[in-house]
Amino acid sequence: EVEGSLRPKSLKEYIGQDKVKDKLKIFIDAAKMRGEALDHVLLYGPPGLGKTTLSNIIANEMGVNIRITSGPAIERPGDLAAILTNLMENDVLFIDEIHRLSRSVEEVLYPSMEDYALDIIIGKGPSARSVRIELPKFTLIGATTRAGMLTSPLRDRFGVICKLDLYDNKDLKTIVKRSAKLLDVPINDQAALEIAKRSRGTPRIVNRLLKRVRDFAQVIGDGKITLDIAKNALKMLEVDDLGLDGVDRKILITMIEKFDGGPVGLDTLAASTGEEKNTVEDVIEPFLLQLGFIKRTPRGRIVTQNAYEHLGLEYYQKDGDVK
Ligand code: ADE
Repeated sequence: EVEGSLRPKSLKEYIGQDKVKDKLKIFIDAAKMRGEALDHVLLYGPPGLGKTTLSNIIANEMGVNIRITSGPAIERPGDLAAILTNLMENDVLFIDEIHRLSRSVEEVLYPSMEDYALDIIIGKGPSARSVRIELPKFTLIGATTRAGMLTSPLRDRFGVICKLDLYDNKDLKTIVKRSAKLLDVPINDQAALEIAKRSRGTPRIVNRLLKRVRDFAQVIGDGKITLDIAKNALKMLEVDDLGLDGVDRKILITMIEKFDGGPVGLDTLAASTGEEKNTVEDVIEPFLLQLGFIKRTPRGRIVTQNAYEHLGLEYYQKDGDVK
């Protein structure tokens, strides 16, 4: 599958997130030198930044198997027990959306993480007894969009906590060029930077846009991606020159037209735009904050002058605004 083949397989190939890579490299090397499982790792940050990719890389670098699942997929404690008892020594278990585990499953996870053991209750009433099953040593890699969504007992059981940040344009451009090479499509520097700039700091989006621009280049052009081809394709995709899409614009325009630029609270904003609160908080807001188009204040979010100007709207200083 094409998306898979674009994914880097080693830390060396993985572009950006230097602080995370440097840390992980040391912890991986140390664990390998001792012949132990890597300590449990929590990865958090906006979607599309490569948490699954990084987990595959960690397993690869450790030379172990990876089992991939998600919080909502593990419905009952028995489901988790089945997964854990099937792991091999030092394997990686990746749980995406780990904040969505149920309480009862989470409680089975604690002793598994801490003591590599499962405590199972057999029977009911006075004859009920607890049986301890030893598990292989393993590395849990948990992924979530915000570390704050985890209960603190769960968060405290991760030995390594890594925050993934939105990528800058330079790193995204390097990813575009790497992906273009793998897809065997010629692209120049200007076009690569243009696609990078419009990808909301997100590798998943940069790769998606690259594939659509490639389609455009094949059908409308001669197969090569030039700046002109890239701009025309992105215009057709309704991605503006800073990467804002229709939803981003809707959020900003709602804040401006219905709330006079804010401050407005997250719940109110989600309700009045019809977007999921989590989508606003995890996907839209981080990007608008990075652009400097909104700011967080104790009373809610406000739209900045830069955003008004980008949208071609007139900005005026309101009474009581704090500069
Ligand atoms: N593809 C997606 N994310 C990537 C990254 N961080 N480095 C290289 N290729 C990628």
